[in-house]
Amino acid sequence: MCGIIGCFSREGCYEKLMEGLARLEYRGYDSAGVALLSEGGIAVRKRRGGVNALAGPPLAGQTGIGHTRWATHGRPSDANAHPHAAGKFALVHNGIVENHAALRRELEGQGAVFASETDSEVVVQLIARLYRGDFFAAVSAACARLQGSFALAVLCADRPGEIVCARRKSPLVAAAGGGALFVCSDVPALAGLAEYVCPAADGEFVRIAGGRVFFCDGEGKEIAKVFSRLPEGSRAETGGGTFMEREIAAVPRALADTLAGLRGLDFAPCARALRAAKRVFAVACGTAYHAALAFKDAAEREADVTVLCHTSSAFRDRAPRIGQGDLVVAVSQSGETADTLEAARLAKSGGAYLLSVTNAPHSSLAALADFGIAMRAGAEVAVAATKSYNCQLLCLYALAAQLAFFRHARFPAWYRSLGALVPAAREAFSAFPAVQALAARLAGAKGMYFIGRGQDAVTAAEGALKVREIAYRFAESCPAGELKHGTLALVEEGFPVLALATERALAQKCENALAEVKARGGYAVLFSQYEEVLSASCADAAIRLPAVPEPLMPAVAVIPLQELACSLCLLSGYDPDRPRNLAKSVTVE
Ligand code: G6P
Repeated sequence: MCGIIGCFSREGCYEKLMEGLARLEYRGYDSAGVALLSEGGIAVRKRRGGVNALAGPPLAGQTGIGHTRWATHGRPSDANAHPHAAGKFALVHNGIVENHAALRRELEGQGAVFASETDSEVVVQLIARLYRGDFFAAVSAACARLQGSFALAVLCADRPGEIVCARRKSPLVAAAGGGALFVCSDVPALAGLAEYVCPAADGEFVRIAGGRVFFCDGEGKEIAKVFSRLPEGSRAETGGGTFMEREIAAVPRALADTLAGLRGLDFAPCARALRAAKRVFAVACGTAYHAALAFKDAAEREADVTVLCHTSSAFRDRAPRIGQGDLVVAVSQSGETADTLEAARLAKSGGAYLLSVTNAPHSSLAALADFGIAMRAGAEVAVAATKSYNCQLLCLYALAAQLAFFRHARFPAWYRSLGALVPAAREAFSAFPAVQALAARLAGAKGMYFIGRGQDAVTAAEGALKVREIAYRFAESCPAGELKHGTLALVEEGFPVLALATERALAQKCENALAEVKARGGYAVLFSQYEEVLSASCADAAIRLPAVPEPLMPAVAVIPLQELACSLCLLSGYDPDRPRNLAKSVTVE
């Protein structure tokens, strides 16, 4: 949450900063701000609201920093927006300073006057206090006093052309291109602005000074680094409509690109870990957690291995005794989610083999992993994950197949049919008019339930999450077999229950659950690829899914649910790209 950017450009950095900030908005959009350093000193412009709220005459200066905020400490307001200034300094910060209250008391005792309620302002006040003429030394000394997580970028009025940045846990990359130098929270925001990029490792500092960008340790000793080309596919989807609509439309392309990547991927380096793992864990958050659950189902079925699947936060809370011989699969679109990163660090420090599935090859998670599977979904901007989920499933099916191969010398029968997902995803769009009509029918509903059995229980959970995230309806999922053990009590006249039935062997049982819903006046909707299941159903509405081998159906069946949530959201007049209270990349605990 929160995006930070810094830029040095001899032609003036304002336009580039603003462009980068607009791209960083998916990390937070409750307030935004910039600070530019020119001969006249540091000029700060910051406001509550999105980057658009910053509109005004361009600010002059070759060196500048910017911020988009997702409030943690202090409500969204002009005063709490970054950059924060103190003395000769201005600062932007992503992360949480855990000892901010003690530091604030200490600084106030020394006469500091605070202008905001944020934990971040403490850092700039501390830097101002510690400054004895050496800009870098002051930032480094301040960082040494901080507990918690941070990526920060600082300007000093005495040092034109310089930005000092530090990283602990929160992501930070350095980049160059187009005659400018950058530091930034993530790579996607730099697409079109920079050509070369290099992530900072935990504990490192990044400096822009003397017309170059470089890395160093806390003593200022330079660390040699190799910059690589900005990865292709870092650009956001173009075209009409909202990002979420475009990203759903891009599912077939994203699957095709991911599949091409998988075909070129050699699993040999992780063969030993796959073959010999005593225990397999899968950790993730949000939508990625649902992908991890689908992996558990596929791997347990195909590779005959028990997969322990945890949300990353629960994994951290319980810190299961991880050791050598364990395989931990961490799934994260961004590769920067704080809980997943911490779970991954726990796994590594315990001696486990860490395998990552991310959409961000330069992410912290990818850097930490022993082996990485790259989705090639392309940049995903809308907060609610769509195309990345389909691609996560594809990658995890491939991993389940490899597990089966290395453990039992056989690939699952469906392994050769992964390519069928691409045309099927395209075909799923033909159901969209019916899905939009369904959204119109459900628009008045305050809540709804999604049900399914077997692999459909996970798709139901993801469908419900999408509706909660962007359509702000109470939406939950329930394994269809559990409906009568409690949830059925909620069903009254017109209450919508949406059922998925993609496993033929379980379809009848799912149909029975829907009949129980109908008998209580509920509004029953069925999704299936089987004509006979749909036609025999008592459902009020039926949506036909394209057919692929059954075990791959979750990657297709979720598409109408993504569209349903998006349609409900748009019909309600909400912005699907920026749901209230949420951020795409949750880089704080
Ligand atoms: C946030 C987003 C979700 C996402 C989750 C995990 O909560 O709003 O859409 O699924 O983070 O993100 P990751 O980048 O780790 O997949």
